[in-house]
Amino acid sequence: MSLARPPRSLQRAKISALGTFVPPRVLTNADLEKMVDTSDQWIVERTGIRERHIAETGVATSDLAAEAARRCLADRGLDAEAVEVIIVATVTPDMPFPSTACLVQEKIGAHHAWGFDLGAACSGFLYALQVGAKLIESGAQSRVMVIGADTLSTMIDYTDRSTCILFGDGAGAVLLEPAGESEQGLLDYAHEIDGSGAPALRLPAGGRLRPRGAVTVANKEHFVYQDGQTVYKFAVRKMAEIAEKVLVRNHLTGKDLACFIPHQANRRIIESTAQRLGMPMECVLINIDRYGNTIAATVPLAMGTAREEGKLHRGDMVLLASVGAGFTAGATLLRWELD
Ligand code: UT7
Repeated sequence: MSLARPPRSLQRAKISALGTFVPPRVLTNADLEKMVDTSDQWIVERTGIRERHIAETGVATSDLAAEAARRCLADRGLDAEAVEVIIVATVTPDMPFPSTACLVQEKIGAHHAWGFDLGAACSGFLYALQVGAKLIESGAQSRVMVIGADTLSTMIDYTDRSTCILFGDGAGAVLLEPAGESEQGLLDYAHEIDGSGAPALRLPAGGRLRPRGAVTVANKEHFVYQDGQTVYKFAVRKMAEIAEKVLVRNHLTGKDLACFIPHQANRRIIESTAQRLGMPMECVLINIDRYGNTIAATVPLAMGTAREEGKLHRGDMVLLASVGAGFTAGATLLRWELD
């Protein structure tokens, strides 16, 4: 089997530890039925979501990220001082600056690490994973913590039934280290953006273009806006396309994968992608029912679920895929090197 990148001369990166965290408070479909004109049946049929976790007021993205990071370090049996870089993929930083990475560094005591945030919405974790992998592959760093964390609940209008049912809060962290002699780790990836999709999913105000003011608040422009159908049509096509692109150039099909771990935005998007890849559903990880769409956290949270449910084994060929606001899209092929 020939694999597209990185060249053999470079040191491959592998995921050497994983930790996840969701806040304890659960918001069920029954709870939402009391808040907006919706039904458990509609939500389950149209999205696959049954419940989602919501952070309490005052709990920030960096809090969830730090707890996921601590669990990740415990999984590896490492002290935080050993971390060299922290990359936090998020669109809900605690504040515009300092970066969430700085806040996480302080919270976990990773005193020797540098780091930064990366914003690519639902594809953020996959993009951050590759940036971290490149730091390892170049030989510049040997322990990179990649975190996907979001608390979109602070930006949701809980009177808008078209968006408030979709999102939850959560965080997941992986440690990247050089793969050993007999290991393969991260094998290949494809990333794309398509800025023509920007109007379809966005937070209209709060940035430089439309700073916060009485008018933007009155117009509810600090809440997430989504043209669901446009995003759905793009996502259902693009997730399959980008996943297939990585598989084909590695001479693989969906049947060669032990596990497909997609971004969790809508169960129907995942099922359609799996069908196009020819993957049996038992190899496809779906946990949207318990967490909803947690943006940059969905993929590491899904890795955690796959591991808990015994669906990931050392040596498994795994494909990750995502589509999100931007539009952004990504797919990563990897050999799972963890027990
Ligand atoms: O992670 C980032 C990427 N995001 C995505 O991938 C999300 C992609 N989009 C979607 O998953 C779907 O478009 C949604 C789940 C957001 C919406 O599902 P849909 O099947 O596209 O519904 P729709 O927006 O076309 O609305 C159909 C009907 C409308 O009623 P009418 O106009 O037909 O009378 C909506 O008003 O469903 C209504 N509706 C609801 N009804 C009950 C919308 N939301 C709700 C709701 N409960 N919560």
